[in-house]
This record gives sequence, C-alpha cells and structure tokens, in this order.
Amino acid sequence: MAFETFETEDHYARLADSYDANWAHTAEYVSRMSELIADRVRIQAGERVADVGAGTGLFLRAFDDAITAENPIACIDPSRPMLDQLPDDARLTPVQATAEQVAAREVRLPDDELDVILMKEVIHHVSDIDTMVKGLAAQMAHGGRFLVVTLPPQLDYPLFEAALQRFGERQPEPDGIAGAMRAAGLEVEQALEEFPVRVSRDHYIELVGRRWMSVLSTFTDEELADGLDEMRRRHPQEHLEFADRFAFILGVKP
Ligand SMILES: C[S@@+](CC[C@H](N)C(=O)[O-])C[C@H]1O[C@@H](n2cnc3c(N)ncnc32)[C@H](O)[C@@H]1O
Repeated sequence: MAFETFETEDHYARLADSYDANWAHTAEYVSRMSELIADRVRIQAGERVADVGAGTGLFLRAFDDAITAENPIACIDPSRPMLDQLPDDARLTPVQATAEQVAAREVRLPDDELDVILMKEVIHHVSDIDTMVKGLAAQMAHGGRFLVVTLPPQLDYPLFEAALQRFGERQPEPDGIAGAMRAAGLEVEQALEEFPVRVSRDHYIELVGRRWMSVLSTFTDEELADGLDEMRRRHPQEHLEFADRFAFILGVKP
C-alpha cells in the first residue's frame, strides 16, 4: 500500500521542518512523555525496537539507555521529509514505509522479530487497524511490548468547533485499539495520562493557521480563516490553559 492519502503526505511534507517546534513540544512535555513511554516498554539492552510512524524521532530518548549502533532502532515512516529530520545517529535506521506495509511484510525490517513496537500519534492514519495490529503482533517475540500512544477522539483543545468535531469523527477510540490487540493475542493494559498546557494564545492561533494537526489540512483556506476568527472571538485572553490527554494502550505478547 502506498502512503495512505496525498492529503496526509502533503501535510507532513509541509510540517517536517517545523514539527519539533510546535506548542506541545516543550522540554518538559518531551521528557515526561518519554518517561511515560520508557516506564511502559521497559526496554532491556539488546532488545529489537521499531518506532512505527517515528516522524522526526522526537521521543526516541525513551530508548536511549538500551540502544547501541550494533542494535539500532528501526525508525519507520512513509514521509521522507519527516525521516530526513531524524538526528544523525548510528543508533537509528530509517525505513521509509507505512505501518500497513510492515504489518503485511511487504517491507522487511533489519530484525525478523521485535521486542518493542512504539506507535505514537500515528494510528489515526491507519484505515484498517485490526489487520495492521494483527500483522505487527505476529512479528513480536514472546514477552514483546506494543505501545500505542494516541489522542482520544474528544479533545479539550481551544480549537474551532468544526475542527474538534471532525477530529472526533476521524480519531479511533482507545477501546477499539485495545480490542484489536486482544484479538491479536496480546494482553492489554490501558491508561489515560494528562499533560497541563499553558500557551500564548497568539502562538496557538498561529500554529492552527499553519495547520499543525493533520485534521486542519482537511479544511480549505476560507474555512480555516473562519475557524481562526471563531477562536479569536472565543479566546480573547493572552494565554490559553487546557489539558492535553493521551491514551496509552500497551499490548504484551504472552
Ligand atoms: C503526528 S506524527 C507523529 C510522529 C512521532 N511518532 C511523534 O510522536 O513525534 C505522525 C507520523 O505518522 C506518519 N504516518 C502517516 N501515515 C502513516 C502510516 N500509514 N504508517 C506509518 N506512519 C504513518 C507521518 O508521516 C508522521 O511522521
């Protein structure tokens, strides 16, 4: 399967250069998110890791302690511009492919089996989650961990209403992802983690105007301009404060 849609491909090609600078990627956010990932995947030295939809590799520090150049992480992503932003590090092997292609073994990874699979903020791009999860789970070693980190469909973001609604319609429910893992023979644990956010209102509106979330790329320039006006009316204050929540769905292969 080719990169899912041109819309998604264009979105990340446009965003790649500025991806790491978005509002959420403060140093505290990146380190807490990396810790939460590390606590769940509990990586051991020598384990084989794939970051599926790795993007720019912002959260790979979760694996820092256990990864060496002899045992690199497979950083899988269909977007060449995103992979081009990976740090120049011999411990990372870029693989240009979709999750679906890897799941279907259309693209071979350096290792035949995986101990750890991470998919952070990627699974909403996959249309057949059950098949993709089944294909990846089949490539896990016993004791392997498959961690999906994803936004739930209901967001508390101060976005314009149509964007919140469209996001909710397109975003998979964490329970459905957990169900796909169970159907693939994994033992599943789920949790919701909350990150408090305080951001300058003008910076946030500017990011929305640059379509930093992929759902924003589905709006025309005119619709987006109307949405930004709505946000300016509804949020006159200098700073915005809200909770960012992520579902962590961990599947362990018995
Ligand atoms: C929001 S970014 C997340 C990147 C990284 N995991 C992070 O958390 O910073 C989503 C990434 O998923 C990639 N992507 C889109 N469709 C995909 C697919 N079908 N399979 C794997 N990755 C995909 C995009 O190219 C992009 O790099």
